[in-house]
Amino acid sequence: LSTSPLVIAIDGPSGSGKSSVSKAVARSLGLSYLDTGAMYRAATWWCLQSGVELTDAAAVADAVRAMPLVMGVDPAAPTVTVGGTDIGEAIRETSISASVSAVATNLDVRAELGRLQRAAIEEAGHADSFSAGRGIVAEGRDITTVVAPDADVRVLLTASEEARLARRSLEVHGTADPASVEATRDQVLRRDADDSTVVQFHVAADGVVTVDSSHLDFDQTVQAVLDVVASR
Ligand code: DC
Repeated sequence: LSTSPLVIAIDGPSGSGKSSVSKAVARSLGLSYLDTGAMYRAATWWCLQSGVELTDAAAVADAVRAMPLVMGVDPAAPTVTVGGTDIGEAIRETSISASVSAVATNLDVRAELGRLQRAAIEEAGHADSFSAGRGIVAEGRDITTVVAPDADVRVLLTASEEARLARRSLEVHGTADPASVEATRDQVLRRDADDSTVVQFHVAADGVVTVDSSHLDFDQTVQAVLDVVASR
């Protein structure tokens, strides 16, 4: 019996719950999982580590093309390694979050990481891959539109600004009290505004299904995405 691999593309702004929802969907369907935001974060880490000025667009692009990046696609334990070093934790540091837009708005970097992302999607269709050829959930900002516009399932995961700030605050500060939410506001909204200059992820493109998680809890959001998959 042979079935063609399933490609699920999920985009959305920060705090939409995209990563945890995408991982749960991949686990439930036995698919690989690709966090493309982690790849932009890894590229930023690599440039900072190599002493490349983030304002030097050509040097950044050269560095990223030479980056020995390996993405582990098991949704139960996704990994990010560069030259054998596990940087899964390091790329979540606020110093990376603060600089990543400078790298993600570099069009040559986008071309290179997009190429690696398409290769990972293609790889998930091979019988000897993590998913045994079943396919992949790839999440980010431009997966439904640029990286995999022909994916079998394309979802834009949105949430109100209020809900997104509360979730990010909980993640970063461990609480969503008013002061913590306020401290999160600047960082989240500025980064989304910066990123929006090169990729559009606030409005669903043609054929992309919007799932609004503002009033859904985690399990309900996962189920809503699984419903979209089932209805395809
Ligand atoms: O989802 P995240 O916060 O880990 O993403 C990190 C950064 O990478 C964020 O500034 C947006 C950018 N990004 C992008 O431009 N395109 C993607 N496909 C994924 C992330």
